[in-house]
Amino acid sequence: MDAVEASALVTGAASGLGAATATRLERDGFTVVRLDRVAGVGIVAGDVTRPDEVRAAIETAAAAGPLRVAVACAGIAGVSRLVGHDLDLLRRTIEVNVFGTFTTLQAAAETMARQEPDLDGQRGVIILASSIAAYDGQIGQVAYSASKGAVAALVLPAARDLARAGIRVVGIAPGIFDTPLLAGLPEPARAALAATVPNPPRLGRPEEFAALVAAIVANPMLNGDTIRLDAALRMGPR
Ligand SMILES: NC(=O)c1ccc[n+]([C@@H]2O[C@H](COP(=O)([O-])OP(=O)(O)OC[C@H]3O[C@@H](n4cnc5c(N)ncnc54)[C@H](O)[C@@H]3O)[C@@H](O)[C@H]2O)c1
Repeated sequence: MDAVEASALVTGAASGLGAATATRLERDGFTVVRLDRVAGVGIVAGDVTRPDEVRAAIETAAAAGPLRVAVACAGIAGVSRLVGHDLDLLRRTIEVNVFGTFTTLQAAAETMARQEPDLDGQRGVIILASSIAAYDGQIGQVAYSASKGAVAALVLPAARDLARAGIRVVGIAPGIFDTPLLAGLPEPARAALAATVPNPPRLGRPEEFAALVAAIVANPMLNGDTIRLDAALRMGPR
């Protein structure tokens, strides 16, 4: 996908994987609109659970050039065992991680579908952050795993649906990455987590997530699946 005069949207771009992705796409030549509910320099304030706010950010991007890339990184992770699970936490997790991701996918697809295709008949690519918790969720991750499993499951039907418009949909299921999501943990807990990763035996770097985004953007044959980016980690029950 050619970045020349093209735009990109990244949600959850104030922090972690989204921030690194926005920086990388900018370096690759895209004009990037960074959406986040947390205000910051260069951030368009908006909540992915508000379709009007997602659409406004996408319009801002498309005004700068054809929207060729949308990356849904906005997400939240609560922890609770099943018995006694707060249903409001379940609802909020599904609302942000599923509804918010769905809305971003839908709004980006609508805009991309109206644009001229490139020479290969392609109009854009939409990349969704799932998680390896979609496949090997740990104790305490029932709601989070359900939400990320939903994201992984919608990738193929969405890619099939959007195929005739020349729009690709790809998921990324990260393992454990060193972002503010994990920074809240005490150092021994972070070290213990890192020690569970086979090779390389460390937390992933946000730039490595961004590098996969760039590879997906560049390779039109990647479509309709969720790629694990986890250094061979298969999480245990706890
Ligand atoms: N860090 C990891 O190890 C890891 C592993 C697997 C999956 N993921 C997923 O990758 C994505 C990014 O994670 P991260 O580690 O960078 O997290 P992070 O907390 O550093 O960043 C997430 C960003 O999303 C924003 N956000 C949350 N709710 C929002 C909303 N309703 N509207 C707009 N913005 C909102 C937050 O303000 C934050 O800036 C998440 O979906 C997360 O579940 C992360």
